[in-house]
Amino acid sequence: MMTIDIKRLQKEIDDLSLISEATPPVVTRVLYSEADMKGRGFVKNLFREAGLTVREDAVGNTFARWEGKDKTAAPIATGSHIDAIPNAGKYDGVVGVLGALEAVRALKASGFQPLRSIDIIIFTAEEPTRFGIGCLGSRLLAGTMSGEKVANLKDREGRTLDSLRQQAHFPTSNPLDVRLPKNAYAAFIELHIEQGPILEERNVDIGIVEKIAAPSSLKMKLTGVGGHAGAVLMPDRHDAGLAGAEIALAVERAAKTSGSPDTVGTTGVFRIEPGAVNSVPCLANLEIDLRDTNVKTRDAALIQIETAAKEICQRRGVALEVERVNVDAPAICDQKLVELVEAVCQQQKVSCMRMISRAYHDSLFMAQLAPTTMVFIPCHKGYSHRPDEFSSQTQIEKGVVVLGLALEKLSAP
Ligand code: GLV
Ligand code: MN
Ligand code: MN
Repeated sequence: MMTIDIKRLQKEIDDLSLISEATPPVVTRVLYSEADMKGRGFVKNLFREAGLTVREDAVGNTFARWEGKDKTAAPIATGSHIDAIPNAGKYDGVVGVLGALEAVRALKASGFQPLRSIDIIIFTAEEPTRFGIGCLGSRLLAGTMSGEKVANLKDREGRTLDSLRQQAHFPTSNPLDVRLPKNAYAAFIELHIEQGPILEERNVDIGIVEKIAAPSSLKMKLTGVGGHAGAVLMPDRHDAGLAGAEIALAVERAAKTSGSPDTVGTTGVFRIEPGAVNSVPCLANLEIDLRDTNVKTRDAALIQIETAAKEICQRRGVALEVERVNVDAPAICDQKLVELVEAVCQQQKVSCMRMISRAYHDSLFMAQLAPTTMVFIPCHKGYSHRPDEFSSQTQIEKGVVVLGLALEKLSAP
C-alpha cells in the first residue's frame, strides 16, 4: 500500500511555481537564471529533508539518492526537469521531479527498503530556451555531444555554457565528463503530464510511453541590408525579415506536405533587427523545430526546408547561415518496463493505454543508457507550454502511485 500526501505535493508544486521570472500564474525558469537556481535550491532542500543524498555534476544535473541495501546492484532512476520555457505552466517536468519525491517518501513511510538504490534526477535544461538545444543535461549524460558542440554553445547574449555553469558554482570539471556509463542504471522511468489531449479525451488515467518522436532543430541567421524605410525603394531591398517570413512559411509547407501526419514544424523564434518601425530589417534570427515519429519523413522535410531557405535567400540577396542544432533519433522504450507499468496499473485498477510521446523528454536520451519508459497523466485539454496547463490532484496522485509501485518492483530485494 502506498499513501500519497497529495495536499503536500500540490503545495510543493504551487510553491515552486512561485519561483519564477514572470508574474504568477506564469512560470518562467530559464537555465541558470536566478529563478532556476532558487528553484533547484527549493527542491534540493526537500530532497535532503526526505533523507536523500544530493550530488550535482558539472552542468547541474542533480541526483538525489535513496541508498539501497545492495551497493553492487545497478541503481534505478526516475526524475524530469524543473526548468520552464517563457510563459509556461507549473506541471511540465515538475510533476516528474516532485511526484518522484512524493513516491519515494511514500515508499519510505510504508517501511519499504530498496535493494537497488533509487536516484531522483533533476535534468539540466530539458527546455532549449537558453542555448537553443533541448535535453542538454541528459544529452551530456548519454555522451551524445561533441566537445566542439559543447564549447560552441552560446546564449543570445553570447555567454557560453562554461561561463554560466561556473558562475552558478557547479563543479568546474569538463562538461563532457558528466557522461554516464551505459549500464549506470538498471531502469529509468519518467513521470510527466501528457502535453496532449488523448488521455483526457478517452478518459484514461495513465499513458505508458512506447516511443518518443524524433526531434530536430535548426538555427538560421539571415543577413540582409538595412536602411531607411522611406528612402530605400522596394526593388532595391534585401529585407532579412521578409526572407525569414518566407522561410517560416516554407517550414509550414514542408511539415504539411511531408506525407506523414506526424510531421510538425514550428518557427518558434523569429527576431529581427534593428526592430524599428522605420528601418528595413537587416538581420533575422530564426529557430525552427521539426519533429516526426518517422525519421525518414522528418529528414526529408528538413532537407526541403534547408533547400527552400537557400533559394529564398539567393533570390532576395540575403546571406544565409544555417546550423543544424540537433537531429535526433526517436527513442524506443523498453517492452519489459512497459509491461511492468501496465501490470502495476492493472493491479491498482487504474485505466491505462500505450502511447507515443510527441513531445521530447530527457527519457529520449536516458533510453540510450538504460531500459526506459514514461508514465503520462492526463492534462486539461492537452494544454502545455502555457500558464493554464493543469492536471488535477486525482490525476497526479494516480501517476505518483503507479510510479512509486513501479520503482518498488524494480528496486525490490
Ligand atoms: C519539450 O519541452 C518539448 O519541446 O517537447
Ligand atoms: Mn516543456
Ligand atoms: Mn517536460
